Amino acid sequence: MIAATLFSLLLAAVPIHGAAVSDIQKRTALTDCLTAASVPQNLPGSADFTQAIKPFNLRIPFTPIAVAVPTTVAQVQAAVACGGTNNATISPKSGGHSYASHGLGGENGHFMIDMKMFNSVTVDATTGIASVGPGGRLGNIASSLFSQGQRAFSHGTCPGVGVGGHVVGGGYGYSSHTKGLASDNLVEATVVLANTSVVTASTTQNPDLFWAIRGAGGGGFGIITNYKFQTFAAPSANTVFSYTIFGWNAAKGSQVHKALQDYASSTSMPAEMNLRLFITSSSLQLEGLYYGTPAQFNAAIAPFSSAIGGASWTTQTMGWLDSLHNYAYMSLQQSTTDYDIHETFFSKSLMTVQLTQATFDAFWQYAANTAKGVSRDWYLIIDAHGGPTSAISKVGPDDTSYAHRNATLKYEFYDRVDSGSYPAGGQSFLNGWVASAVTAMAGTTLGMYINYADTSLTADYAHTHYWLDHYPRLQQIKKALDPEQRISNPQAVVPAA
Ligand SMILES: Cc1cc2nc3c(=O)[nH]c(=O)nc-3n(C[C@H](O)[C@H](O)[C@H](O)COP(=O)(O)OP(=O)(O)OC[C@H]3O[C@@H](n4cnc5c(N)ncnc54)[C@H](O)[C@@H]3O)c2cc1C
Ligand SMILES: *[C@@H]1O[C@H](CO)[C@@H](O)[C@H](O)[C@H]1NC(C)=O
Ligand SMILES: *[C@@H]1O[C@H](CO)[C@@H](O)[C@H](O)[C@H]1NC(C)=O
Ligand SMILES: *[C@@H]1O[C@H](CO)[C@@H](O)[C@H](O)[C@H]1NC(C)=O
Repeated sequence: MIAATLFSLLLAAVPIHGAAVSDIQKRTALTDCLTAASVPQNLPGSADFTQAIKPFNLRIPFTPIAVAVPTTVAQVQAAVACGGTNNATISPKSGGHSYASHGLGGENGHFMIDMKMFNSVTVDATTGIASVGPGGRLGNIASSLFSQGQRAFSHGTCPGVGVGGHVVGGGYGYSSHTKGLASDNLVEATVVLANTSVVTASTTQNPDLFWAIRGAGGGGFGIITNYKFQTFAAPSANTVFSYTIFGWNAAKGSQVHKALQDYASSTSMPAEMNLRLFITSSSLQLEGLYYGTPAQFNAAIAPFSSAIGGASWTTQTMGWLDSLHNYAYMSLQQSTTDYDIHETFFSKSLMTVQLTQATFDAFWQYAANTAKGVSRDWYLIIDAHGGPTSAISKVGPDDTSYAHRNATLKYEFYDRVDSGSYPAGGQSFLNGWVASAVTAMAGTTLGMYINYADTSLTADYAHTHYWLDHYPRLQQIKKALDPEQRISNPQAVVPAA
């Protein structure tokens, strides 16, 4: 009797016990493989491991099965080989700023390859082409490029963002209306594929891969070990401008939003104008960077000013690095070894071509009735993204996998808590705001932006909204390069059947 009970207890325990042992065995086999191949790693349980897996977005921590920290391309290849031998799902991490913690895998149990040691920046003085390691952060890279002959390329505003993950999703910032996306400035990348081969991707070499990594490269097509950007001469005349409307109601918000869409859709917004609307519960702030003098700015903004019932702009002329610093809200120089800045938030995005009047009305009813009442530290940024004069829209709609060439406006919804944890159920606030536009635009697919990865989207919904009609081609390329989904995350491209 006792023996029989013990026997059935043992049987019942076998599956659980077996699973636990196999996880530990898999981890041990992977770390042993890395050791044998002399690939540097952060061993599970070490302080370095804990630091390496701390996400920018503290709302969504994940624990990888192992963490490699290669310093050479050969070590990246060896790490990918170890991942293959041990059937691990690989996720490259550069700056760790994915809103969905995709650099950590976006779920537990991935094999993270931390690219932080690849952070060199060198400019070829003859061609102006910069070689940039993916592990560098935007602020350090901008400073380094400027110190090497006052060069620059287009990229986002936050100095801590890693260039590795930024470029593969598009990469938008205060020079994009004038000079295009970060990925539009890319001329070549070196990529370690899932089968461990190292290849060059450009318009002439592996052009399908080059197409895929300019908009959809976030972890799914290979591990980028080097970027080459065509830099431009950093503009010398930068006019930083702003105008703030304190206190707003639905009618005012709707008027400003529609005026921004109209202005961005017309040729009266010059290419040199980079303009955004920054919305909080207390104010509507219009701000940006104009590549020209304050007098030229004032003439160029006049049609927009009159559409919003007049505006008194503050303008300031700044040097290139000071203008970047102005919108960075922190030093451009970020730690390359012990980066430790974090937030706790939920974020969403939209990319819109032409919203109807009914949509502006619904959107701002929600803003006034619901958003204003949310006391968390939320904001919404609406950028004047595409349109007839925008460099982003000058690239053909199918020339890269970035699927939003003709989106006039781009939206970043960001809801954060300044301390403690994000509340259960808190996501309904931003989900509802986005739904107000989606519902009012029934029949039109509103795009979304992978660089503002949204954890509330199912994989299928994410695929068709991040990449729109480019998704089927991405699935074919994925099938050719990584049919086993060796490199992946929960929203990454799935190979064609
Ligand atoms: C504070 C803040 C401000 C931001 N501002 C802007 C902005 O102004 N404009 C804008 O466009 N975006 C902006 N972003 C979004 C940012 O561009 C994305 O989150 C970007 O993916 C971050 O890249 P990362 O390398 O830091 O992140 P990671 O989490 O390391 O990586 C992001 C994704 O890219 C993949 N990846 C990373 N490295 C490689 C590599 N070497 N090869 C292949 N795949 C790789 C990862 O697997 C993951 O899927 C901002 C984000 C934050 C947190
Ligand atoms: C490899 O891993 C995948 C996903 O983690 C799993 O579905 C598959 O069964 C594994 N294959 C082997 C041979 O263990
Ligand atoms: C890896 O895949 C690429 C692209 O399909 C191919 O050219 C290369 O030969 C493959 N390498 C190996 C080692 O199989
Ligand atoms: C561009 O916008 C038009 C509507 O103005 C739409 O019909 C078309 O599908 C869009 N194309 C792309 C590539 O987004």
